[in-house]
Amino acid sequence: MNHGKRVGIVGAGNVGATVAYSLAMLGSAHEVILRDNKIDVAKGKALDMSQAAAAVRSHTVVSVAEDMSQLTNCNVVVVTAGSPRLPGMSRDDLLMINANITKEVIQGIAKYSPNAIIIMVSNPLDAMTYVALKESGFERNRVIGMAGILDSSRMAAFIQEKLGYGGGQIRASVMGGHGDDMVPLPRYSTVAGVPLSDVLSEAEIEEIVHRTRHGGAEIVGHLKTGSAYYAPAKSTAIMCEAILKDTKQIHPCAVYLEGEYGFSDVVSGVPVMLGANGAEKIIEVTLDEKEKAMFARSCASVQSLINTLNANNFFKGAM
Ligand code: 2OP
Repeated sequence: MNHGKRVGIVGAGNVGATVAYSLAMLGSAHEVILRDNKIDVAKGKALDMSQAAAAVRSHTVVSVAEDMSQLTNCNVVVVTAGSPRLPGMSRDDLLMINANITKEVIQGIAKYSPNAIIIMVSNPLDAMTYVALKESGFERNRVIGMAGILDSSRMAAFIQEKLGYGGGQIRASVMGGHGDDMVPLPRYSTVAGVPLSDVLSEAEIEEIVHRTRHGGAEIVGHLKTGSAYYAPAKSTAIMCEAILKDTKQIHPCAVYLEGEYGFSDVVSGVPVMLGANGAEKIIEVTLDEKEKAMFARSCASVQSLINTLNANNFFKGAM
């Protein structure tokens, strides 16, 4: 058995379940395995999704792992487990709660799916990716954080809304961490190849940048009892697909930096080439002084979360 591609998903809440559903519709994985403490809920969702897959004649089967020891030999494991961000709560408030959950989950993945590529989705995203890297002991290409695709999709949607045209032709670029000081890059964003500055005023671009930075909070404000999941899940599924199909396409993802962009021992969002071995290559984009300063500020806030983890002896005994 186990000849096909297996994707494990830890956390079958809104984001995890929607990743599973997207993958089941795409059909690039043979098996999608949900792992959640609420086993019956996971079982119900898995059956429902397997039936949806049958409806579209996708061969993907969605199943349930009753504990981490059943999450074996996955090609990719997506980690969405964690406390969700509630109204008024910053992503950073979640730091210690989710770091402890992540630590436990990652130890299970390292044991039962030691060759997997890990995609981190839990917040605060960049710090959790750092935790996953340190706790797994995996090479850095195998531990990747989602969020750049999400943040640039949000920016693209806001550009389309502002313009009133160009849907499907917008390439928006966002680098840096998945926080309020993320780095939207209007200079590298286009509509069918046309620079943003040719179709929007400076004030309009600034408004889009601001809205992108707070795109997650805007949705939390509407939903009230939780945070976004359709776009986060779709962004995650795009990463899974690129890895499973070894596409070698470039996507913005959170990775551990070792000197790229002048930073080390920190995780931040940069363009990476995704393939069967995960983040196979980090692309270094030329940034101007203002963009460099924004990127540095974003790295500094991720660094401060890592410092908090260190101050609490979080990594004691690891590495
Ligand atoms: C978001 O950006 C909550 O980080 C999540 O929607």
